[in-house]
Amino acid sequence: MVVKLETERLILRKPKLSDAEDWAEGMGDIDVSRRVSGAPHPYTLTDAKKQIDKKLIKMKKKDFEKFSFVIVLKNENKVIGSITLGNIDRKNGICSSGSWINKRYWKKGYMTEAKIATNNFVFNELGLRRMETGAFTDNKASNATQLAVGYKYEGCRRKRHMSKATGKIHDENMYGLLKEDWKKKLPKLKKHLKTKIKKLGKK
Ligand SMILES: CC(C)(COP(=O)(O)OP(=O)(O)OC[C@H]1O[C@@H](n2cnc3c(N)ncnc32)[C@H](O)[C@@H]1OP(=O)(O)O)[C@@H](O)C(=O)NCCC(=O)NCCS
Repeated sequence: MVVKLETERLILRKPKLSDAEDWAEGMGDIDVSRRVSGAPHPYTLTDAKKQIDKKLIKMKKKDFEKFSFVIVLKNENKVIGSITLGNIDRKNGICSSGSWINKRYWKKGYMTEAKIATNNFVFNELGLRRMETGAFTDNKASNATQLAVGYKYEGCRRKRHMSKATGKIHDENMYGLLKEDWKKKLPKLKKHLKTKIKKLGKK
């Protein structure tokens, strides 16, 4: 299933190999790559091409369901990040989510906006009941983002990941989001984002 999601400022669509340059620019920043487990540093154009290719191959597999989205900023027609929905288990109604945004675009509400689209897709279209995600314990931005969009803290997995970019071992905070909590959170979150976008526009 090919899925394209659209919000006020963003389009979320399947990655293309031609996205590699924007992808490498975002993931090439150590402040992004050190906060995810699998990205090396330095991160080259070839790394980006390989990673996108790997995602496309996985998305084609019949018995393996995964949705990888690049986040395109409409007014610049630029890929500024990505969200992947993985470990999709339709029987048990769960999936996991991982994401990043190019550092130049942080704190503008783009991840919140993208997550509104993907979470609605997960709960309304895929009909799942629970999403899971994690963040290194020292990753302020990611921990704040998960809580801001309604995830609940569910515990800490000690020494769970090694950042390929730095070689450092990290504890991981685990978060879960239930469909019923999302339904309650969504109206407030939309209002909050609308106010934020308005304020950013005045700056
Ligand atoms: C985490 C990340 C995706 C957030 O993206 P973003 O587009 O900047 O997030 P938003 O602007 O939508 O912010 C969401 C919330 O988190 C808060 N937040 C974001 N960065 C923050 C920071 N550095 N410190 C504290 N709070 C922060 C925002 O204030 C916002 O809350 P609010 O609406 O109540 O103000 C981005 O920082 C990133 O890509 N980091 C590196 C890679 C990474 O950590 N990926 C996740 C791995 S688990």
